[in-house]
Amino acid sequence: MVDYDGRMGSVYVEGRGISSAEVARWTGAFAAYVPERRPLDVLDLGCGTGRLTPGLAVEFQGQVYGVEPADRMRAAAEQVPHPGVTYLKGSAEEIPLPEASVDVVLMFLTFHHWMDPVQGLREVRRVLRLGGVALLRTQFSDLMPDLFWYEYFPSARAVDAAMYLPVEETKALAVEAGLEPGADVVQLTAEEPRTLRQRYERLSVRALSTFEHLPADELEAGFARFAADAERDPDRAMPVYSASTLVLTRPR
Ligand SMILES: C[S@@+](CC[C@H](N)C(=O)[O-])C[C@H]1O[C@@H](n2cnc3c(N)ncnc32)[C@H](O)[C@@H]1O
Repeated sequence: MVDYDGRMGSVYVEGRGISSAEVARWTGAFAAYVPERRPLDVLDLGCGTGRLTPGLAVEFQGQVYGVEPADRMRAAAEQVPHPGVTYLKGSAEEIPLPEASVDVVLMFLTFHHWMDPVQGLREVRRVLRLGGVALLRTQFSDLMPDLFWYEYFPSARAVDAAMYLPVEETKALAVEAGLEPGADVVQLTAEEPRTLRQRYERLSVRALSTFEHLPADELEAGFARFAADAERDPDRAMPVYSASTLVLTRPR
């Protein structure tokens, strides 16, 4: 289990923060999969430090709720208040909102942390209005991206894949919870292009769950090789990865 109230909570903004232009690209990408009318009320479930949450209020023009269990993550989010956003302590398994209170639920890289995924998805169904849409942005163990930095950490690919479920199993959990999954996983492209040095600087603060599961000697050796490459070739343009997302609907 990753402790977002501990070290991860203290490095997340430095290692995973995104520019306002990137936030706008993400929310614009989400807009393609949700109802066209405005305003839309949105739940950012597992919102962490709120890096996307105020952007959801701008894009969808409704009331936005950021629900987050880790006090340290939520406290960082609350440092950047927005009139359209309310942050609440809670979890996917127990969402502190009434039934049928939002049009959209965003789950951005949080699903793999949930203790009880079916209960969490049942809660997502409960808080969604009829015809509402949930965007499950996650990785799938049978659809893993080929990240360039895996070459520095021999066990990272397997460690990452073990954190996620295959596509069909994820869809089956959604169906069990009363949600209707889209036929295909969609790929959202919104990530900022970065150089090798920029990638190294962000990854070396270890704000990714993967690094919590790697042995200390592998981390040390991997980051030493990574640092040397970043020093040698700092401006090399690195690949931009698309974000796999399953679109779930609460049937009317
Ligand atoms: C990788 S962070 C993603 C945060 C945010 N969505 C973002 O993209 O920046 C994962 C978040 O999920 C939260 N989380 C862990 N267990 C959860 C649960 N059962 N329900 C909701 N969120 C949870 C963690 O506390 C953490 O803030």
